[in-house]
Amino acid sequence: MSACMHIKTMKLASCTTALFLLTVLVLAKDDVSTTKKPNFLIFLVDDLGMGDVGCFGNDTIRTPNIDRLASEGVKLTHNMVPAPTCTPSRAALLTGRYPIRAGLASKTVNTMFGCNACTGGMPPYEITFAEVLKEAGYETAYLGKWHLGIHSSYQDYAYLPNNQGFDYYYGMPFTKINECADPPNGRSSVMQLMRISKLIYYWATLTVVLYSFVFVSKWFNIVGFRGSLIMFVSVTLFSYLLLKYPESSQRFLCILMKNHEVVEQPIRLENMTVRFTNQATSFIRENKEKPFLLMMAYVKVHTALFTSKQFAGVSRHGQYGDNVEEMDWSVGKILDALDQNGLKDNTFVYFTSDHGGHIEEVAVEKGREGEREGGWNGIYKGGKSQVWEGGVRVPTVARYPPSIPSNTVISVPTSTMDILPTIAKIAGAKVPDDRIIDGREMTGMLFGKDKIAVHDFFFIYCGPWIHGVTFRPDEEGIVYKVIFTTPKWTQGTQACFHTWLCQCKGRFVDQHDPPLVFDLTNDPGEHHPLKLTGETKALIQKAKAARDRHEKAVEPVTDQFSLYRSVLFRPWLQPCCNFPYCSCKEDNTDM
Ligand SMILES: *[C@@H]1O[C@H](CO)[C@@H](O)[C@H](O)[C@H]1NC(C)=O
Ligand SMILES: *[C@@H]1O[C@H](CO)[C@@H](O)[C@H](O)[C@H]1NC(C)=O
Repeated sequence: MSACMHIKTMKLASCTTALFLLTVLVLAKDDVSTTKKPNFLIFLVDDLGMGDVGCFGNDTIRTPNIDRLASEGVKLTHNMVPAPTCTPSRAALLTGRYPIRAGLASKTVNTMFGCNACTGGMPPYEITFAEVLKEAGYETAYLGKWHLGIHSSYQDYAYLPNNQGFDYYYGMPFTKINECADPPNGRSSVMQLMRISKLIYYWATLTVVLYSFVFVSKWFNIVGFRGSLIMFVSVTLFSYLLLKYPESSQRFLCILMKNHEVVEQPIRLENMTVRFTNQATSFIRENKEKPFLLMMAYVKVHTALFTSKQFAGVSRHGQYGDNVEEMDWSVGKILDALDQNGLKDNTFVYFTSDHGGHIEEVAVEKGREGEREGGWNGIYKGGKSQVWEGGVRVPTVARYPPSIPSNTVISVPTSTMDILPTIAKIAGAKVPDDRIIDGREMTGMLFGKDKIAVHDFFFIYCGPWIHGVTFRPDEEGIVYKVIFTTPKWTQGTQACFHTWLCQCKGRFVDQHDPPLVFDLTNDPGEHHPLKLTGETKALIQKAKAARDRHEKAVEPVTDQFSLYRSVLFRPWLQPCCNFPYCSCKEDNTDM
């Protein structure tokens, strides 16, 4: 306006025209931004339980930002993961498929990857939602915990997010474990797992065998000097790791990567959430003009627990509560970044957890012995690594104004596998049609148009075995769950303290014949198995038939969790920022 004031009457007409043109231009520009393809923001929290979140009924923990998401969107109260441990659950979320299809279900004791220098991973031929969006012209980033492998062979980075549709990766390729605690808290997650089997003996035996091999081959000159030198160094490193466990493992397991580069080794946890949050907000700022996908996979609230200084001691639930509250703070900061860049209405936000809280995690430090350090599963039975609802039901909210009506609740069974087809639908992108996708597109339900069950049968896996089936025989009726196998608990608890994580087979489980049947609609806590009547027998038959049908259609693939792929440490695959020290700090951490 003021520019026009300076121009006198004779120019008034052209000035008006200019103003008109300007208005048209501004409107046109606005038009461009509103017809821009929607963005996607996916939050995945590690080990967060159903009882840990305000809007899911917790009145003493403060999660105002997750609660805000729920009140501006929808709460999914029966959202499930198909396998209640990290690696398979994450693969399922990313690919929309049961993890067994990718070889992430093994008859060995492994339900996740054991090292950074192992050769197992989610196969690159799997198609993630990032790849689906990439084809539709999206900018994509993955921040945080990956735990789906690094190398399949020497320095090939075959499994990293960069090879699965993400343009940018910043995070921990492994999982955060107790070894990562800083300062060390004297606990070792890997050693805890060793209790399950004779794994430690395998390791020791392997070392002895390798050593003998080195000496014998050297003696008889079978492999020559270079060969034996390489073997000697590998074996020495391997043995050193074993001996110095868990101190040395921190450096090998707890690392921070940016794309293919190791930027911190070992990772410093203190400001980690702040660093991830800053990465997320700058990604949003830098890509506000493009359609984007941002996946924020927190390394929280898994042990080792850590917070920034300003979150130490703020909650009413010890260190665990502080962790939840800092995670919520981060969610808030990232949502604020959407608001500040005018992207709120054009961004589909999904918040969930990879499985229920880890009940076996309790503090051992003096003065804190026995304090709960894993998540809280509320009214639900059991926890992480169990077929019970406490293991597979995850606190989930979605927001996409104005398509998703605010303040809604959906209690129909859904799954994290549904997110791939749902994202594809919203983005107008193509769902892979050369393979089985187990997730179901759920926009109809999210947008309030229909209330039909998304899944007919939902299978709960433990390793390669189906321990339970959840289903709703009538479209609008009761949700039932048939359970074939349950873990053997440590007496007086709902957890497996004797093995630290419940196991899937053999002497660690109870087989139920006839299977247990629960009415989850009226008994979500799974307290009262239904009496064996004709009706329940029919339900069992239905569940068994569905299970058999499903199992028949699962094609055998390479077992990514074999001891060879997921436990055997290969020194030459170990990511290291500055060999031979493997020790460095990221710059600019005080952001
Ligand atoms: C709220 O969450 C904390 C932390 O997990 C837990 O200790 C507490 O029991 C929960 N409260 C309710 C009412 O669920
Ligand atoms: C964490 O951030 C604070 C300031 O916010 C800084 O003083 C401190 O040095 C940082 N700590 C680490 C480990 O980077």
